[in-house]
Amino acid sequence: MCDAVEIFEVGPRDGLQNEKRLIPAAEKIALVDALSACGFRRIEVTSFVSPRWVPQMADAAEVMAGIARVPGVRYAALAPNLKGFEAAVAAGVDEVAIFAAASEGFSKANINASIAESLERFRPVVEAARAIGLPVRGYVSCVTDCPYDGPVAPGEVADVAGALFGMGCYEVSLGDTIGAGVPERVAAMLAAVADAVPVANLAGHFHDTGGRALANIDVALEAGVRVFDAAVGGLGGCPYAPGAAGNVATEAVARHLAVRGHETGLDLAAVEAAAAMARRMRDGDA
Ligand code: HMG
Ligand code: MG
Repeated sequence: MCDAVEIFEVGPRDGLQNEKRLIPAAEKIALVDALSACGFRRIEVTSFVSPRWVPQMADAAEVMAGIARVPGVRYAALAPNLKGFEAAVAAGVDEVAIFAAASEGFSKANINASIAESLERFRPVVEAARAIGLPVRGYVSCVTDCPYDGPVAPGEVADVAGALFGMGCYEVSLGDTIGAGVPERVAAMLAAVADAVPVANLAGHFHDTGGRALANIDVALEAGVRVFDAAVGGLGGCPYAPGAAGNVATEAVARHLAVRGHETGLDLAAVEAAAAMARRMRDGDA
């Protein structure tokens, strides 16, 4: 048996945020509750973002209030600014995530700020979180390619990842937002980022648009990464990343890791059941 690998379940947030149908809070709560029975240590439940930017996440507080919390599971949410952070804390999240990009085009499209402006906006969020002992995770989007600016240089990713880690993020998740990454370029990106952030504090977040997410996970495993984000049922994408299809499916990553001898601590039957529920939600027959 190789060493353990953690799958960070992001389906309720990254999986559902892009769905066209406005999914009732009760369905989202049922999905989170199903995921809570799978053995995940961390589940990203929702986003405290502007409802005008992402209408699907407008019910963030209602979803947080409705879930049945299982001891040992940390329930997380995105918070792009202090307003989102305060709402997330009021809703009782166990950790928040701030989200930056390695490309200017995506940063502007996604959070209406340059990279530098966004980092300045995140700083008070991290400070406020530290004051109450709440962990903060950081995301870097577009770690190999940007839907607006094209290929992204590894050094740009390292700079933003280093800034988030330096600010106090306990982990930095590296997002192949549009699933355009190929293993060779993911490896080069990881080598650059590893100079800025210890590999033990990195996570991989691969969308599967190009069908290479598992190959990219393998490259990241080789580099020592031991946390991967995934979404049950392979749902998802980002509303501000045109063409970004689903996240890599949790059940596919879990099976892949099991074959490679990595322990995930997940109940695969429970994960498959949650994935079936997520797919029914996407198809509108939950
Ligand atoms: P803005 O319009 O520049 O914000 O948006 P603003 O500060 O000028 O405020 C405008 C209005 O929004 C105001 O309301 C604020 O109160 C309100 P008004 O006075 O006009 O009625 N507002 C908020 N409302 C609720 N919650 C908040 C909030 N903040 C302001 N937190 C902003 C800037 C960052 C808010 C906006 O761009 C936004 O919400 N963006 C989020 C986009 C998003 O969620 N994208 C998807 C997640 S990222 C992703 O999927 C990538 C990832 O998976 C990794 C990967 O795959 O690469 C993480
Ligand atoms: Mg994503």
